[in-house]
Amino acid sequence: MHFRIFSSDTYLNRRTVLRNGLESGLILLLGNHAAPMNYKDNTYHFRQDSTFLYYFGLDVPGLAAVIDVDEGHECIFGTDLSIDDIVWTGPQPSVNDMAQCVGVVTTQDFNQIESIIKKALKSGRKIHYLPPYRHDNIMRLAQWLDISTDEVMIQPSLPLIKNVISQRSIKESCEITEIDHAVNLTADMHLSAMKYTKPGLKEYELVSVVHQEAIRGGGNLAFPIILTTDGQTLHNHYHGNTIRDGQMILCDAGAENDMHYAGDMTCTFPVGTTFTSRQKDIYQIVLDTHIKAVEMLKPGIQYRDIYLQACRNIFNGLKSLHLTKGDADEAVAAGAHAMFFQCGLGHMMGLDVHDMEDLGEQFVGYTTTLIKSTQFGIKSLRLARELQPGFVLTVEPGIYFIPTLIDMWRAEGRCKDFINYEVLEKYKDFSGIRVEEDFLITQDGHRILGRALPKTINEIEELRSK
Ligand code: GLY
Ligand code: MN
Ligand code: MN
Repeated sequence: MHFRIFSSDTYLNRRTVLRNGLESGLILLLGNHAAPMNYKDNTYHFRQDSTFLYYFGLDVPGLAAVIDVDEGHECIFGTDLSIDDIVWTGPQPSVNDMAQCVGVVTTQDFNQIESIIKKALKSGRKIHYLPPYRHDNIMRLAQWLDISTDEVMIQPSLPLIKNVISQRSIKESCEITEIDHAVNLTADMHLSAMKYTKPGLKEYELVSVVHQEAIRGGGNLAFPIILTTDGQTLHNHYHGNTIRDGQMILCDAGAENDMHYAGDMTCTFPVGTTFTSRQKDIYQIVLDTHIKAVEMLKPGIQYRDIYLQACRNIFNGLKSLHLTKGDADEAVAAGAHAMFFQCGLGHMMGLDVHDMEDLGEQFVGYTTTLIKSTQFGIKSLRLARELQPGFVLTVEPGIYFIPTLIDMWRAEGRCKDFINYEVLEKYKDFSGIRVEEDFLITQDGHRILGRALPKTINEIEELRSK
C-alpha cells in the first residue's frame, strides 16, 4: 500500500468502542471520492475523510463502510481497479487486501451498498451517518436513504456524532507521535519563512519555500498558507504584495504529515532584522498573553476561561499604550476587546487542523450546558469546554488593527468608554500579530507539541540578523 497505517488492533479497538457506544442500527461511514477541479479527470489533491481514516485507515478514494451495531459485522465497500484503470494508476492492492490490513474481513463492491441500506431501512433499522460536507456524498446519501438533499443535512445521527467526538477528542499515544511529527514539519515551514525573508521579495516567493518544507517532509498543507504583510486579515490568502523593510510578516501555516495529522503554528516577524518600537510594544502584549494562556492549560479548566483571561490581558496591555481605557472585566463583558482580538483563542487539532469541525462546533467545543455566544468576538471561539487529558489544541492569541472595523465602530460610537479612538486612528496601518503553538493536555498540565519556534523579540531578531 502507498500509505502508512497503525496496527490493525488500533482500528479494531476504535470500532469496538464506537459500536458499543450505540444502541442499534447500522453505522454508515463515507470515505471521500476524487473531486474534479476543472474537468472530470483533472482532480483536486485527494484528501480522505478524517473519520473514515480514524476507523478504517485506508487512504484511497471511493470507499465507504458499514458497521452493524446489532450483529457486529463490518464491511468495506469499494471497487477493484480494472486494466483500464491500472494502465493509468499502476497496480494497486485490492479492496479486500487493504481491508485485511485494518482488521476488516468482509468487503463488497461499492455498488452493493445502496441495496444493503435500502433493505435495512425497509426492515425499520436506523442508519447512523455523520454530517456530510462533500456534495457528491450528500447526493449519494439522498439516493441511498431515499430522502431529499435538504433532509440529508438535517438527519445525521446525534448519538453517532457524540460518540465519534468523544473518541477522537482523546488522542492515543500513537496519534501524539504523529502530531509531534506534523508539528515538527510545521516548525520547519516557519523557520524557512524566517530565514528566506528579505525586503523586495514577493509574498508568494516565501509561500513557495514554506509549502516546500511540508512536501519535503513527506506531508502536505494542513490548510492554505496565510503569509502576509496584511496580518490584520485573519485568513488572508492573497500573496501578491512586495515585502518592505519596516513591515512584519505574519505566517500561519501547518503541515499535515503522511498520516494526515496536522500541525498549526503562527509566527510574526520583521521583514528587516529588527521590530520597530511600536511593533515591539504590540508583539510583547501578544506574547505575554500567549505565555499566560499556556500556563493555564490543564485538565478541568474551561478553555473559555483561558480565552476570557487572554481578552483581559490584551485589553490591559493596550491600556499601557492608551489604546484602551476603563475596567477590563467590564470591557470584555461588553465585547470591547473584540476591536483588537476578533477571533477565538484556539481549537482542537488532530486529523483535521480544526479537528472534527465537520461534526459541528457546538458538539466539539461546547456542551449541552455551555452554549456558544453570538457576541462579536467570542462567537468565533471554537473551543470553550473543560479540558481533559489527551486533548490536543492550539493557543493563538493575536492583536489585529482592522481599518474597516475601526471606522465602523468609531462611527457608531461603539464601546467608546473602553476604546481611545483618537489613538487607535494612528494604528490603522499597523497590520496584525499572532503567536500560535500546539499543546497536549496531560494528566497534570500540558506539554508543547513538536519543536518550539523562536518567539521572544530577542530570539526572533537574532534569527533575522543571521
Ligand atoms: N490556521 C487557521 C487557524 O489558526 O485556526
Ligand atoms: Mn493557524
Ligand atoms: Mn489555529
